[in-house]
Amino acid sequence: MLSNIFRQRWLDKNKVVAMMNKNVITIMNKKLLNEKTTMLTCYDYTMAKLISSQDIDMLLVGDSLGNVKLGYENTLPVTVEDMIYHTKSVKRGNAGALLVTDMPFMSYEISVENAVKNAGRIVKEGGAEAVKVEGGIEIVEQVKAIVNAKIPVVGHLGLTPQAINKFGGFKVQGKTEEAQKKLIVDAQALESAGVFAVVLEAIPEQLAKEVTKCLKIPSVGIGAGRFCDGQVLVIDDMIGMFTDFMPKFVKKYANVGETIKAAVKNYIEEVKEGKFPQEENAY
Ligand code: KIV
Repeated sequence: MLSNIFRQRWLDKNKVVAMMNKNVITIMNKKLLNEKTTMLTCYDYTMAKLISSQDIDMLLVGDSLGNVKLGYENTLPVTVEDMIYHTKSVKRGNAGALLVTDMPFMSYEISVENAVKNAGRIVKEGGAEAVKVEGGIEIVEQVKAIVNAKIPVVGHLGLTPQAINKFGGFKVQGKTEEAQKKLIVDAQALESAGVFAVVLEAIPEQLAKEVTKCLKIPSVGIGAGRFCDGQVLVIDDMIGMFTDFMPKFVKKYANVGETIKAAVKNYIEEVKEGKFPQEENAY
């Protein structure tokens, strides 16, 4: 009886530890255990506290902050400094999710040395625990070197937004047989280079299924259908904060944008009408 109580206490304690601290091993093990991996983007302290309180596996400081936080048309102007600034903020609010930060456009393409240096800055100055890079075979040397520098890497294939000018817009990728073969080869090359997970963005569901099947590492889909090992969404899209454009693959779980507008409208009216502040709000 007593040993059962101790056993339960041990299990509870370790469950809490498992809930609180996600790392690359726990993420990779999820695929073996046939458990889905969850990831959301996050760009600041307040949101990091809210999201990580719900036992999310990974927070991604995505360079999508260029669109949703900085108001750029695309992610190309985002700098390493922007990524470090937002990663620091998220780090302070994160309660145990694995913290992954995007390497922005032109921070890893130029040379292997430059890639390692910038990944190192994102980890050392920002506090990220892993970095994400966009591309396949063409960046495997950079991936290997970053991994050799003891920095875990997530790959990103399919509609890689940093290649928007090459793709001629935000278009679903992997539609032709040739593109499908290349995507599979790229995914395998990234896995061999040492990435611990790969994001698959805006590709046909059957292709994502095939890629997922031929990899030992987890696939994390965004617009890649139902059969990936996990899913990621941009937080501002899924809570209805960012409405400039809304891809078909997004599900809106809340309408926070409308809630904010209503609150602001109400505040303005109450200030104008002298209803706010009241005595209880005064010193
Ligand atoms: O920058 C980002 O938010 C991303 C996700 C869309 C995966 O890369």
